[in-house]
Amino acid sequence: MNRREFARLLAFSGAVPFVTPSLAWPSADKLPPTPASPDEKFWMSVRDQFVMPKDLAMLNAANLCPSSGPVLETMYKMTKDMDQDPSMDNRAKLGDGRENTRKLLAEFLRVTPEDIVITRNTSESNNLVSTGVDLKAGDEVLLTADNHPSNHTAWQEKAKRFGFTVIDIPVPNPHPGGDYYVQAFTKAITPKTKLISITHLTSTVGDVFPAKEICKVARERGILTLVDGAQTFGLMDVDLSDIQPDFYSGSAHKWPCGPKENGVLYISKSAQPKIWASIFSAYPGRVGVSRTFEGFGQRDEPAMIAFGEALKFQTQIGRAQIEKRSRELTSALIEGLRKIDGVKIWTSPEADRRAAVLSFQPGNLDVRKLSAALYQKDRIGCATRGGQDRAGIRFSPHFYNTHAEMDRAVAAIKKYITAGV
Ligand SMILES: Cc1ncc(COP(=O)(O)O)c(C=O)c1O
Repeated sequence: MNRREFARLLAFSGAVPFVTPSLAWPSADKLPPTPASPDEKFWMSVRDQFVMPKDLAMLNAANLCPSSGPVLETMYKMTKDMDQDPSMDNRAKLGDGRENTRKLLAEFLRVTPEDIVITRNTSESNNLVSTGVDLKAGDEVLLTADNHPSNHTAWQEKAKRFGFTVIDIPVPNPHPGGDYYVQAFTKAITPKTKLISITHLTSTVGDVFPAKEICKVARERGILTLVDGAQTFGLMDVDLSDIQPDFYSGSAHKWPCGPKENGVLYISKSAQPKIWASIFSAYPGRVGVSRTFEGFGQRDEPAMIAFGEALKFQTQIGRAQIEKRSRELTSALIEGLRKIDGVKIWTSPEADRRAAVLSFQPGNLDVRKLSAALYQKDRIGCATRGGQDRAGIRFSPHFYNTHAEMDRAVAAIKKYITAGV
């Protein structure tokens, strides 16, 4: 069939063409090496690796990031391979690929593959910890008050079942500085304290917690630590060998720009004897803790392999450069927004107290209407926060965004604050 006949067939049948992804998706060979000081042109070439339309400015990395072309292509190729020949013999190589992802995860977080469980997301990772640690009546768990439900409601619900007590450490706004939290935790610890759980970077207003220092205070007193890394994994150049938590959780679909329904749980060697696995089934991982903790039954191994591709993609660009870029874009937003009368920024302007999650109250505007207008009229994707507690708009830019998009976002907010939505 020639091209013209093919086009006619499509026109008649109304069918959606099955486009070969290698023709339609960007390819990593087009990505130039990262210069020592990457300029806007370089970051535009990073942007070209994603399939988002050029006019769409996605400022919602804290919620869900797009996968790059190389990740999509890996998913497609591996899935096609599996579906062309679903025999166990053919699928053996997928198990090798999954173990390769474990190695890449270990390198990425600077730990060893024996300590890595590939889960389905941060929610699952957090819950494997709160269900698996041996806590009972009389034990205390300290939490920062501003945690995601998977690290807050989960602890409260399990406290009801297992009888332990949950104590919240208040989270004042604006961020009072890392020392404040180190002191607050140190003061709140009692002989009953068995575990401290914090969010590394909050999804609400983007507060960064002094994870390393809090983990040190806990370790010196024999207390376990869970660091919820949903908002730092793939954004910050996280080094778990330096932070030394007992548990660290993350999701592939957020800042790492990986496939959906993949995540990570790191379990330190010293914590491994102190936690029970919650799910026992077939097909666990092959090394270390994954042999007991990763038997979740049949998995989507092509997606797990694509998760590794996402980590390679970020490593190729440079993780420190990615963190720097996302921080710079956020600083540009802060600079622009603070000049607009009526805008109240909830996120700390101090570089060591925030990263790339920025929340603000846009005057008296209805945030849902504003967010709808930003998306429909200005092609800007963001998140909203309702209620009484630090309500507003959340922008979370990542390495695929550009300075022009930050200018557009600031100009749009100014326009709506001046003229209404
Ligand atoms: C701090 C934090 N923890 C956990 C989660 C849950 O992530 P997931 O939905 O990928 O399980 C989120 C999601 O936004 C989050 O921001």
